[in-house]
Amino acid sequence: MLTKENVLQKALEWQDQDAKYIVEQATAVYSEKLVLACSLSVEDLILIDLLSQVTNPVRAFFLDTDFHFPETLETKDRVQKKYSQLDLETVKPLLTVEEQNAQYAVNLFESDPGQCCKIRKVEPLNRTLRSYQAWMTGMRREQATTRTNLQVVEWDTKREMVKFNPLAGWTNKQVWAYVLEHQLPYNPLHNQGYPSIGCSPITCTAPVAAGGDIRAGRWAGKGKVECGLHT
Ligand code: ADX
Ligand code: SF4
Repeated sequence: MLTKENVLQKALEWQDQDAKYIVEQATAVYSEKLVLACSLSVEDLILIDLLSQVTNPVRAFFLDTDFHFPETLETKDRVQKKYSQLDLETVKPLLTVEEQNAQYAVNLFESDPGQCCKIRKVEPLNRTLRSYQAWMTGMRREQATTRTNLQVVEWDTKREMVKFNPLAGWTNKQVWAYVLEHQLPYNPLHNQGYPSIGCSPITCTAPVAAGGDIRAGRWAGKGKVECGLHT
């Protein structure tokens, strides 16, 4: 088991290992106590592909905020069809959109995206992770200034558990080379100007001009770069 004390040493030891090695180590140590957080991003598809080579079932969950693009939900269906060993749990917020509208505000994602993410992403994430000892994400250092120090394995101080980021050092180019070479069933919105895909309101995910920053379209103009899952 990894501990708060030895996780940094492991991160240094494994920093030059390939992603498959990290995935193997994570499954060997944590087995059914490991879960993948899957937003259906290209990074998460790579992790499903790698996990399916080393473990069965592949435990994963998708936080369904009720605001996802239809293309994301279709991608989820295609991924589930491709990987029979994928056990992908869909996790819902405690409040429906109607309840949230009544208790907080209509279009809370515009007036207070922090609160909206708290209700629709962060609480469901925390609730799900309580059943596990380790989780895995598709985060990469290159994605945001808030992620430049990301390690392949970290201690999640908020939840007192281990967090694996096997693709921490991958570039966007490497990601797409893998996706295309292995013909992964990626979200068609990536071909329509969306490099990073979250919830569908335009204030949460907007298209980005060619060559623009990968996450420039996420909460653009809202002074927000993270939804709270990773902070
Ligand atoms: S976010 O914080 O801005 O929403 P991002 O979209 O970069 O996160 O995704 C980073 C990682 O967080 C994903 O690779 C995935 O592991 C996890 N994640 C993000 N959104 C979800 C979701 N809706 N369901 C499950 N995991 C998610
Ligand atoms: Fe709400 Fe937008 Fe956060 Fe989704 S990304 S939970 S719609 S504020």
